[in-house]
Amino acid sequence: MEKTFIMIKSDGVQRGLVGDIISRIENKGYLLTKAELIHPDRKTVEAHYAEHKGRPYFESLVAFILEGPVMAMVVEGENIIKVMRLLIGDKNPENAIPGTIRGDFANDTTRNLIHGADSTESAQREINIWFPKEG
Ligand code: PPS
Repeated sequence: MEKTFIMIKSDGVQRGLVGDIISRIENKGYLLTKAELIHPDRKTVEAHYAEHKGRPYFESLVAFILEGPVMAMVVEGENIIKVMRLLIGDKNPENAIPGTIRGDFANDTTRNLIHGADSTESAQREINIWFPKEG
């Protein structure tokens, strides 16, 4: 069983899409093992997006997440990291296919509703950042 870190971003909470997005994850057969509505501090958000520091979008991305709160989650299931990335859809609205979360609900590269870890290493790193006691 694989686990991943998923975050419903500030826009998802603001737009009242938390229930809808979680339903899609659960309907796919995945299990939420941790979920917390968190109003993050800058340190947490910058640590989460550390590999993007210096990119032109970094500051506006951090400011957007800091609008908070966000729904931080640990979700488990077979091959979940890869499949969740498919369910989430592309960050570019032109490439986000209808039927995916972003394809159905997002039209902006920054305000794109949801984050999913892209590898086992990233998942563990992100879980440690958001849920330090989780291990
Ligand atoms: S990249 O461009 O290949 O490094 O993109 P990626 O690895 O998918 O991660 C980029 C994360 O930053 C968010 N973001 C943006 N990316 C590109 N351009 C703009 N303007 C932008 N604004 C925000 C993007 O959604 C990725 O975050 P997550 O949370 O992983 O989706």
